Amino acid sequence: MAVETSRRDFIGMAFGGFAAAGGVIALGAMKKTWDPLPSVQSAGFITVDLSSMREGEVQTIQWRGKPIFILKKSADMPKNEKRDIVAGGSRYAVMIGLCTHLGCIPTWTPSTKQFKCACHGGEFDASGVNTFGPPPRPMDIPPFKIDGAKLVLGEEGPEYKKLVPKKA
Ligand code: FES
Repeated sequence: MAVETSRRDFIGMAFGGFAAAGGVIALGAMKKTWDPLPSVQSAGFITVDLSSMREGEVQTIQWRGKPIFILKKSADMPKNEKRDIVAGGSRYAVMIGLCTHLGCIPTWTPSTKQFKCACHGGEFDASGVNTFGPPPRPMDIPPFKIDGAKLVLGEEGPEYKKLVPKKA
């Protein structure tokens, strides 16, 4: 009887040990998933090299949980001195890709060179300015700094302060 009990105890302890080890491994894997990428680790800054973008190309990146649209403007797209960013001699439109109506994510439509919001039909031009439908204002410009042909998101550089002056 005593032998039986101690064998049962051993099996119980062994199982408990395996379960604890499995839990530690699972926690380690989960932490890895939660950890931000190295590129976003430094206080929410992210650096995007714009030099390889083609004219008319839009790329969407994630910054602080939000989509950021970066459009490299082509010569046939109207300039917008109040919103355009010039980096490395090229002109870009950079905006937080959330519709200013109720926060849906608009989609770039190359044929009409517009961002269209499928939720309620809102439209924005290539600079992110609302042109049709319920959106009440242009898409927001995220804080940024220009470093040569690189865009640093998360830092308010002089170019950002010029485009988006602080409200008094
Ligand atoms: S959320 Fe975009 S038009 Fe309503």
